[in-house]
Amino acid sequence: MIDLRSDVKTLPTELMRQSIFEAELGDDMAGEDPTVKALETKAAELMGMEAALLVTSGVQGNLVSMLAHTQPGQKIILHDQAHILHYERAGLARVAGLLAHLLPGPYGTLDPAAVEEAIWPPDLHRAATGLVALENTHNRAGGTCLSVEQTEAICAVAHQHGVPVHIDGARIFNAAVALGVEARKLAAPADSIMFCFSKSLGAPIGSMVCGNTDFIQRAREARKLLGGAMRQAGIIAAPALVALEHELPRLAEDHEKARRIATTLSRLPGVQIDMATVQTNIIIFELHREDMTAPELCQRLADYDINAIPQSDVRIRFVTHRDISIEDTERVCAALSEVLA
Ligand SMILES: Cc1ncc(COP(=O)(O)O)c(C=O)c1O
Repeated sequence: MIDLRSDVKTLPTELMRQSIFEAELGDDMAGEDPTVKALETKAAELMGMEAALLVTSGVQGNLVSMLAHTQPGQKIILHDQAHILHYERAGLARVAGLLAHLLPGPYGTLDPAAVEEAIWPPDLHRAATGLVALENTHNRAGGTCLSVEQTEAICAVAHQHGVPVHIDGARIFNAAVALGVEARKLAAPADSIMFCFSKSLGAPIGSMVCGNTDFIQRAREARKLLGGAMRQAGIIAAPALVALEHELPRLAEDHEKARRIATTLSRLPGVQIDMATVQTNIIIFELHREDMTAPELCQRLADYDINAIPQSDVRIRFVTHRDISIEDTERVCAALSEVLA
């Protein structure tokens, strides 16, 4: 089966499984797991931040970051298609007690002037702004990247008003590879970043929150509050270390596979795809045909052993990853051409 549903579907490699078996372990809640410590040190270094904290998932990483940066009743400014808004059980409101101020923007970007306008001046009637959140790469926009300059511009505006910036960088390394910059350059302007090992990096579990030492202490307390403090978490950290070593260098291949599939799609009748969105390993397109809906196309692809799910009646998202080879990519292109030509 070629699974195009998400890059979270990858299974751990032999090296990852072996690393779990051999990991040196201790009680991480007491700061005694050497493998977790090694991973946190490495992550902080990669992001150019002082410290890092291993969390169970991207959602938990974003939530502990919101809790560590803000007070209940404050406002968070974020993109109206942000993952934090659409897919995280309203944790921002329900757990962190934040008011969401949503801003639109093409390709997952925010306009610095609009962000500045959204940071209301101190006023008896209005909520204070506690946080601005960015997303890089931007999932619902199609895996699009925020450049260093775009990130800097938003952070400059926020910081002028004393507001911190968090990056939901679940796939930050994909942005780094696509833009040809170091991930730390994309993270540096912000106050914190969350990134995932379990997505394009192909590890089985885990995400990382990075920031300064005070922020990470508060994030650690928030993780405990959420029941996310762990014991011998080195079994999670070990395959994540393997992922950093062995998977990072091959992310460009995933982007190439996505480009091939997207190029094929762009030539097929009834397919609407904005090739400018195909920057990393995500492809989002729409199908506008009399004879077939998006769910029906997914059903047809199942006959070719291709697993895909629609996002709506017309919209489909494909994600490429380690477990889809170049040959698989060719099979996907051939199947799409056969079904849609
Ligand atoms: C941009 C983004 N942020 C956060 C998450 C949440 O990650 P997790 O599924 O590990 O909670 C995802 C998951 O796909 C994501 O795409």
